[in-house]
Amino acid sequence: MEHERVVIRRGVRSGAVIIIAIHSTARGPALGGCRIKRYPDWRDGLEDALRLSAAMTAKCAAAGLAHGGGKTVVVGERGAGVLHDVGDLVEELGGAYATGPDVGTGPDDMEEIATRTTHVFCRPSASGDSSPATAAGVLAALRVIGGTSFAVMGLGHVGALVAGRLLDAGHRVVVSDVDESKRALFPAAEWLAPERVLEADVDVLVPAALGGILTPASVPRLRCRAVAGPANNQLDGPETAELLRARGIVWAPDHVVSAGGVIYATEVELHGSAPAAAMARVEAIGDTLRRLLDRG
Ligand code: PHE
Repeated sequence: MEHERVVIRRGVRSGAVIIIAIHSTARGPALGGCRIKRYPDWRDGLEDALRLSAAMTAKCAAAGLAHGGGKTVVVGERGAGVLHDVGDLVEELGGAYATGPDVGTGPDDMEEIATRTTHVFCRPSASGDSSPATAAGVLAALRVIGGTSFAVMGLGHVGALVAGRLLDAGHRVVVSDVDESKRALFPAAEWLAPERVLEADVDVLVPAALGGILTPASVPRLRCRAVAGPANNQLDGPETAELLRARGIVWAPDHVVSAGGVIYATEVELHGSAPAAAMARVEAIGDTLRRLLDRG
């Protein structure tokens, strides 16, 4: 384990297993969202926290932020009192880590966590929902990648915004989600079942759901010429990047593409930037990606 600190605690109110992984504070306090999700076993949640917090270190560094990476994982359901349990544990870390929204949590939950600790981003009364900023960063990356047809995998907060903007811009858009009821939200898009969307015949595949989708088994099935999206940890392992390269598929690293939310939240809440100025910093994700791709 390359992490600085990992805390595993059973919440006194909720009984839930709560894991906070601090990967690094070398550049500054660790930052990363609070994920509430079911896992087959709490150890799978631990593994997710370890991987996701390391990804946050890369994300903050690539975005030029004076922060390291961390992550909270709550294993299971969002039981009563769990957000206060999370807040207490964050507070115990004394500022080495600050939390924010992630899969399974949103701005209102951050307000709840804030009743126990000040180390929390994206409360509605602060910078609020980070999804529009994350989506703006994804769109800036997609402009650099180019293309006229896109397949968006996952219509959560960020994926739905990205799909909508791509449709508005007149592109051909394929959408997919594990929840089939989302299909009705995008009548102008084509729909593919989640198990088929990897094979979509589009210019760019946009992973916007959970990680681990690019594997030695899935890469040969791809028909896109590029992959660029906000899902964290898209590669099942670093070697898979080589498989993509061998097939001539451009891969935009997710830690660059997905940084809009943290960039926006820290600009507004720590540097007092106006929303428009913070969004301008988010747009710079395009320049970062261009530099990275030019280097090959
Ligand atoms: N879920 C966000 C991410 O993965 C985490 C976050 C967003 C943390 C905004 C703080 C502020 O980047």
